[in-house]
Amino acid sequence: MPELIPVLNKNDIDKMVARVARKISSDYQDQELILIGILKGAFVFLSDLVRHLTIPVKLDFIRVCSYGSSDSSSGNIRLTKEIEIDVNNKNVLLVEDIVDTGLTLSYLIDYLKTFNPKTVKICALLDKHERRSENIKIDYACHEVGEGFLVGYGIDYNEDYRYLAGIYHLKL
Ligand code: IMP
Ligand code: MG
Repeated sequence: MPELIPVLNKNDIDKMVARVARKISSDYQDQELILIGILKGAFVFLSDLVRHLTIPVKLDFIRVCSYGSSDSSSGNIRLTKEIEIDVNNKNVLLVEDIVDTGLTLSYLIDYLKTFNPKTVKICALLDKHERRSENIKIDYACHEVGEGFLVGYGIDYNEDYRYLAGIYHLKL
């Protein structure tokens, strides 16, 4: 049986998200901002993040597939939902659940840049250093983790565990 070891509870997550939301609200005060959530994993994080912001924002989603049913990135990224909002000359903040190798984000940054946004920054719930291969800057990270496979709070393993309110280390 897979084992779930608690890493962050609901309260820990709420504090982390509120802290990052305060920083984003202050950095983009009086500026237009479009948040682009990366589906599916970022859906819970993004919905909490927007409710902690104190500035108006617009929202869109993008969807990529890379993992399949494995627990490590294939590096083979497929865009399965394009952006629908106009980001030309706008500030864009990509909202990701967890950054591992950085391949997904570097692919998405290149994709977004073809639409000529004014700025593109990155906000991630979890910044995992274990296997980083791309040189990308995470502008807003809620929490840093060294290693391990994490699930819950929107994050899955083979489509399981997204519904959990906390974040857990999954031991297979
Ligand atoms: P990267 O391209 O290697 O940075 O991987 C990023 C994507 O892999 C994220 O969008 C996650 O969906 C997924 N991922 C990375 N690490 C984990 C993890 O520990 N648990 C679940 N999904 C993960
Ligand atoms: Mg993801």
